[in-house]
Amino acid sequence: MTTSVQAQAYGGTEVLAIVESPTPEPGPHEVLITVRAAGVNVADVKVYGGVWGTDPAKLPIPLGFEVAGVVAAVGDGVEHLAVGDAVIAHPVRGGYATEVLAPADTVIAKPEGLGWAEASGLQLTGTAAAHAVHAAGVSAGDTVLVHGAAGGVGLVAVQLAVLRDATVIGTAAPGQHDLLRELGVVPTTYGDGLLERVRELAPDGVDAALDLAGTDEALDVSLALVADRQRIATIANFDRGPKEGIRVLGAGGEEGKDVRAAAAVEIAELAADGRLKVFVEATFPLTAVVAAHELLSSRKATGKIVLLP
Ligand SMILES: NC(=O)c1ccc[n+]([C@@H]2O[C@H](COP(=O)([O-])OP(=O)(O)OC[C@H]3O[C@@H](n4cnc5c(N)ncnc54)[C@H](OP(=O)(O)O)[C@@H]3O)[C@@H](O)[C@H]2O)c1
Repeated sequence: MTTSVQAQAYGGTEVLAIVESPTPEPGPHEVLITVRAAGVNVADVKVYGGVWGTDPAKLPIPLGFEVAGVVAAVGDGVEHLAVGDAVIAHPVRGGYATEVLAPADTVIAKPEGLGWAEASGLQLTGTAAAHAVHAAGVSAGDTVLVHGAAGGVGLVAVQLAVLRDATVIGTAAPGQHDLLRELGVVPTTYGDGLLERVRELAPDGVDAALDLAGTDEALDVSLALVADRQRIATIANFDRGPKEGIRVLGAGGEEGKDVRAAAAVEIAELAADGRLKVFVEATFPLTAVVAAHELLSSRKATGKIVLLP
């Protein structure tokens, strides 16, 4: 039997339930993964919170888009994976589980040297970060403004931008500034006066901006500072982003499937050799999914929250 987490209605954490069901068998081009760790993401909360609709026909919704684990069975036509392989998979449906089926083309080798928790939290935020850095054309010599620099996506985005030899200014709460400095980022606080603070930190101008926060302030400051709107990317402002002529990334915007698939492999390699750090804030057993989501929603966590089935 498989134990998993489902949203049985739309609402708050009260709709989450732990359920038992027969362990599925992989169909053609699928693998069954024994989950060792499942990354928790803002998207998991949004999906049952009704942000993307409240269609009753979609209930119950299995949660969890990314996992690390061990291949337990392979379906027909799977050639690059075998039983016993340590892997990471994203996107999957229902990763908050003891076992999950994954399309084989979403599965790659787990980066050696990375723990299960770190490995499970690498892909969703990591590929979004890589997509943003790519879309905004971040390259050597650029000055880049990153809004929400200490979030799940932000911590990867700033590291990728620094690896590209850009100068990175990142917005975050003051308690995150030391961490950002350690990553080579010039930190500043979001909120009133942000435009002036960034102008002072970047007297020669800002070449590109990544909005990973989705606030009006992030968008307004980016538009005021960056001349080329194609070098402003948002992953979180789907209301104003399209109207402003900037790059809007992710479901509902540019999906960037090829960019993200290539990035999945690239960031796994960077993490394997230590050039990309993965920060895990906390781990919870699967049965404590409500506590994990409460911590995520409190926005007090730095780095990933992970469930250990
Ligand atoms: N489109 C896509 O493909 C895609 C993929 C992944 C995520 N997303 C979305 O992107 C957003 C960020 O995701 P995440 O996983 O990084 O979330 P997260 O880990 O919760 O990080 C969000 C960060 O936003 C910062 N923040 C809070 N209020 C802010 C403000 N007023 N101005 C600037 N920053 C502020 C917080 O920083 P402090 O701790 O410093 O306060 C927090 O670290 C979410 O809306 C998520 O749904 C989209």
